[in-house]
Amino acid sequence: MYKEPEILVGLDLGTSKISVVIAERDSRFQEAQIIGVGYAPSQGIRKGLIINLEQAVRSVRQAVKDAENMVGFEIDEATVSFSGMEVASVTSRGMISLGRTPRQVAISDVERVIEAAQSELSIPPNRVTLHTIPVKYSIDGNSGIDDPLGMTGIRLEMELQSVIVPTTVVQNIINCVESAGIEVNGLVIKSLASALGSLTDEETRAGVISLCIGGGTTGVALYTDGRPVKLSIIPIGGDHITNDLAYVMKIPISKAEEVKKMVSLNPEEVDQQDLDVDVRGRMKTFSITEAAEVVNCRLEELFGEHVRHQLAEFSLHMFPAGIVLSGGVAKTPGIEIFASEMLNLPVRIAEPLDVYQMPPGRNDCEYTTVAGVVRYMTSRERNPYRYIETPISELRSGAAQITSSPVGKIPKKSGGDRTEGIRGFMDYLKKSVKELF
Ligand SMILES: Nc1ncnc2c1ncn2[C@@H]1O[C@H](COP(=O)(O)OP(=O)(O)OP(=O)(O)O)[C@@H](O)[C@H]1O
Ligand SMILES: [Mg+2]
Repeated sequence: MYKEPEILVGLDLGTSKISVVIAERDSRFQEAQIIGVGYAPSQGIRKGLIINLEQAVRSVRQAVKDAENMVGFEIDEATVSFSGMEVASVTSRGMISLGRTPRQVAISDVERVIEAAQSELSIPPNRVTLHTIPVKYSIDGNSGIDDPLGMTGIRLEMELQSVIVPTTVVQNIINCVESAGIEVNGLVIKSLASALGSLTDEETRAGVISLCIGGGTTGVALYTDGRPVKLSIIPIGGDHITNDLAYVMKIPISKAEEVKKMVSLNPEEVDQQDLDVDVRGRMKTFSITEAAEVVNCRLEELFGEHVRHQLAEFSLHMFPAGIVLSGGVAKTPGIEIFASEMLNLPVRIAEPLDVYQMPPGRNDCEYTTVAGVVRYMTSRERNPYRYIETPISELRSGAAQITSSPVGKIPKKSGGDRTEGIRGFMDYLKKSVKELF
């Protein structure tokens, strides 16, 4: 019997752009094929947080319209990814007895052990659990069990990863998307969506780090044995680099954005010629070396301080597949070598996975997050115990708050006093006007 293909929609609320993917899945295939991608510049969103609801709603409408135009029909619901700050990923453990004599693990046992691990969590006021992700099971002390269902033993233990976010952030996101006429049927943190959109199964099994460097934030996901062991957000992205360039070079933000995209971190390409840029009708000459130094400073801070801090409790040996970079900033030439030298791990740039082939022009590492939302939807459906979500109705009302038991450095080019000066100035800038960045 012919069945209408099922439509899945992912929407990413980014700081720089809102993107929407429409995917189609017919009953013969487990995976979904992307049939449309839309986007719109993002307004009213800063560092992943909604700061102007009306503008944000308008941007969501535009992005949805753009995607609808590509597929020729209207959409009315979506699973939404977002970043935001103050995202905490917390590990807890649970243990239950299966009885005095060995018996097979049933679904109710899995639910009980998840509840036991959840009860270990203390959720601060005004926070809500967004994701509950079983990371590891063990039976009678034998760890590394992928799926305990049907296995026999007397004691079931588990390790759980919970992602906790501020309640109002989630409510504002739901309110924004629903005000644009799209019902929210699921929420996923950007770190997880980007990882799902960019990592291969082989990499997650081996151990890998996904870093999605967007406009306002960097999503971090650490994987070992195929499961995320840490998901977090660093409040730094490409817009900080643009702002730095605008301050240091005294040029408008729009020009700084242009200059930024001409910079290469590749040591062989750094000695490029000077740049002539039209600033308010007058040609100004910039030294590319100086611009590169500004970009270097901010990325050194990101990789050398913030990313290292996220890795502090782990050994680098746990991530033999290295780092996969995604997000718009991953398009900076030479960033692989830069990150690899800073963090002492192999680095590759992500592309959305083959199964989620994007149309030309919309198929680079800027779209990994929104591609990952579709993968999140399909894998959540295949295995409901892989990613456990707090129901949207609870998140919407805030009720979930009460009920949710549910390095080396890149070799420096001789920049002379001028670049030393830039470094000093950048440090001063970062300290003194932190709130602007
Ligand atoms: N070729 C490029 N070189 C350097 N930076 C780039 C390039 N292209 C885009 N960017 C930067 O990437 C950032 C946008 O990336 P992306 O679209 O992934 O962000 P976003 O998803 O909207 O934001 P976020 O995930 O932080 O909420 C901007 O700062 C933009 O300037
Ligand atoms: Mg993003």
